[in-house]
Amino acid sequence: MDKRQKAIKKLEDYNQLQLLKFEDSLDDDAKEKLYNQIEALDFSLTAEIEKRKEGVKKGVITPLKAMEISDIEAEKEELYKVGIDAIKAGKVGAVLLAGGMGTRLGSDNPKGMYNIGVTKELYIFECLINNLMDVVNEAGSYIPLFVMTSDLNYESTTDFFKEKKNFGYPDEYIFFFKQEMAPACDYDGKILLEEPGKIAVSPNGNGGWFLSMKKSGVLNDVKRFGIEWLNIFAVDNVCQRICDPLFVGATILKNVSIGSKVVRKADPYEKVGVMCLEDGKPSIVEYYELTEDMAHEVDERGERVYNFGVILNYLFRLDELEEIVDKSLPYHVVEKKIPYVDEHGKTVKPESPNGCKFEQLVLDMIHLADSCLPYEVVRDREFAPVKNKTGVDSVEPGSVLLKKNGVEI
Ligand code: UTP
Repeated sequence: MDKRQKAIKKLEDYNQLQLLKFEDSLDDDAKEKLYNQIEALDFSLTAEIEKRKEGVKKGVITPLKAMEISDIEAEKEELYKVGIDAIKAGKVGAVLLAGGMGTRLGSDNPKGMYNIGVTKELYIFECLINNLMDVVNEAGSYIPLFVMTSDLNYESTTDFFKEKKNFGYPDEYIFFFKQEMAPACDYDGKILLEEPGKIAVSPNGNGGWFLSMKKSGVLNDVKRFGIEWLNIFAVDNVCQRICDPLFVGATILKNVSIGSKVVRKADPYEKVGVMCLEDGKPSIVEYYELTEDMAHEVDERGERVYNFGVILNYLFRLDELEEIVDKSLPYHVVEKKIPYVDEHGKTVKPESPNGCKFEQLVLDMIHLADSCLPYEVVRDREFAPVKNKTGVDSVEPGSVLLKKNGVEI
């Protein structure tokens, strides 16, 4: 079977023949590219649309005790010693999740290239490197940094780091890799074309980071350095501490598979996922899954028990990650605005959501692990996600918090 026949067979199997609608108008090169895309993409994902209609069933949710700031204070010296020793010994690496499209921020560039400076240039990537450098300076040794990108932003991200000389971070300690892509489809599960010869695709969520590290080969570098713990973190939280010794120390000393930074919720209804147990295993319950009773349930001290929100900053034990990724992560179906071609072959940019993308999420990895320590951090020190241009979780509160923490912006 040649490439074209193989493509047709796959499209027939998945009932997606519409993807060849403009085949006759394409030149040989464009046809080849389209057949390659058909071969590479996982079309079975479209079945998730049907599953979504059935809804996702959660197990029995119970509280999971967090290590609170007062607990951390009480053990500070010991935590610090264990943490800084692990960093000095090269056992900790950092993984920056920067493969997202940052659509809400509304910039064509990767989110990390956003300049949040007021009186001077200060890029989000730069803020994160500066935060990491605080620990590097404290420990006296560099921490290998692995940056996840996607097909859509690999070049612009790597070019930017090159142009800015990695903001001072040495080349031999930065590694870029790409995550997988997933097809996008309409509400009936029909995969969309973005151009007559190009299938609409998007990054497949942040949950595939470890598998992508493996596939891309950077896991060999992780092993070469002798890293035992990986601190993964989101690109958009400009204030967060990365690989901070107390967090590392707590996760090691409490002998858990994962450490998860959490912040106390601003109010019972704040829209963040909170740490919990689900059928006795660590998990995250989304704000919309919390019942009214659960939102207000208190412990013997009168403290709310579902009160610690995750901030996408986790420390994973490397040897358990291999086992976690062998168990399959679910795909989430997310409604999005997806550019598509109309019947005349013209690309249309819709004003409102017109279809679905498929994403795996880091938070589902938590439930696959045996244990997880929710580790409280000071909200005003570490939580300022820059998701939107204005309003909640936007550039402005991010800048305010940076200033509050002594960063000149
Ligand atoms: P968000 O959920 O905020 O998504 O990602 P996003 O793509 O950055 O932004 P929107 O929703 O389009 O506005 C949380 C973190 O996960 C990373 C992001 O880069 C960010 O650090 N991420 C997200 C990936 O690395 N890959 C993805 O496929 C999605």
